[in-house]
Amino acid sequence: MSALYDDETFFAGYSGMVRSKEGLAGAAEWPAMRALLPPLGGLRVLDLGCGFGWFARWAAGEGAASVIGVDVSERMLERARTMTDDASIRYLRADLEAFEPAPHSVDLVHSSLAFHYIEKLDRLFGAIHQALSPGGRLVFSVEHPIFTAPSAPGWTVDGAGRKVWPVDGYQIEGPRTTRWLGRDVVKQHRTVGTYVTLLLRAGFTIDHLEEWAPTLEQVEARPDWAEERQRPTFMLMAAQI
Ligand SMILES: C[S@@+](CC[C@H](N)C(=O)[O-])C[C@H]1O[C@@H](n2cnc3c(N)ncnc32)[C@H](O)[C@@H]1O
Repeated sequence: MSALYDDETFFAGYSGMVRSKEGLAGAAEWPAMRALLPPLGGLRVLDLGCGFGWFARWAAGEGAASVIGVDVSERMLERARTMTDDASIRYLRADLEAFEPAPHSVDLVHSSLAFHYIEKLDRLFGAIHQALSPGGRLVFSVEHPIFTAPSAPGWTVDGAGRKVWPVDGYQIEGPRTTRWLGRDVVKQHRTVGTYVTLLLRAGFTIDHLEEWAPTLEQVEARPDWAEERQRPTFMLMAAQI
């Protein structure tokens, strides 16, 4: 894939987002993701599509034995390295479309909002399954299929004045090109059923599937998140081998 996040304009826009500046504290779904993670003490952790390394640093702080953050974007990795001062964390530039971690080399694979960019997710799930040690876990988030499906994603208002998120093309899986941060961005749409099936085919047992929305308490604190309760924005999954 071309490294979208290496594009100067896109990178500048992405760097300005709340979640880029505040890290995990600025990611509304983080409390829900965190609840899916096992205790990290002594674990070998792989973070796929690690971005600025917020999760890698948190995992090291929780006592992980080692953390490898993988990303295809040199700019993202450069920023991650600048922000990291911890010998247990290593960053690696690799394209997840072809990445082959060593068999049984990790105990936990984490990925936040990267897998919807991946075309050959069946191959990647197979590679992750092989890389995990017995009892190992995969915890990841993606943009929810209701979010990725529409050809022109965006809120609209129906005849009764209700705010709605029109969904078209849900069953038509494959690439979607949308305009984001000044660039045409290609994401891969797949149905909820396909994510489940790909994990099962790779040999995983699924522990959790969450169609994430902010809690009422979160909305009280951040009223601008209220619309995220109208349709799922992210899907969170946890699986083990
Ligand atoms: C939305 S950002 C999420 C970053 C970080 N995980 C977070 O949640 O803050 C998606 C990340 O996935 C990376 N990415 C996208 N496609 C990739 C690929 N094929 N191989 C490796 N990394 C990829 C991007 O470079 C970017 O850093």
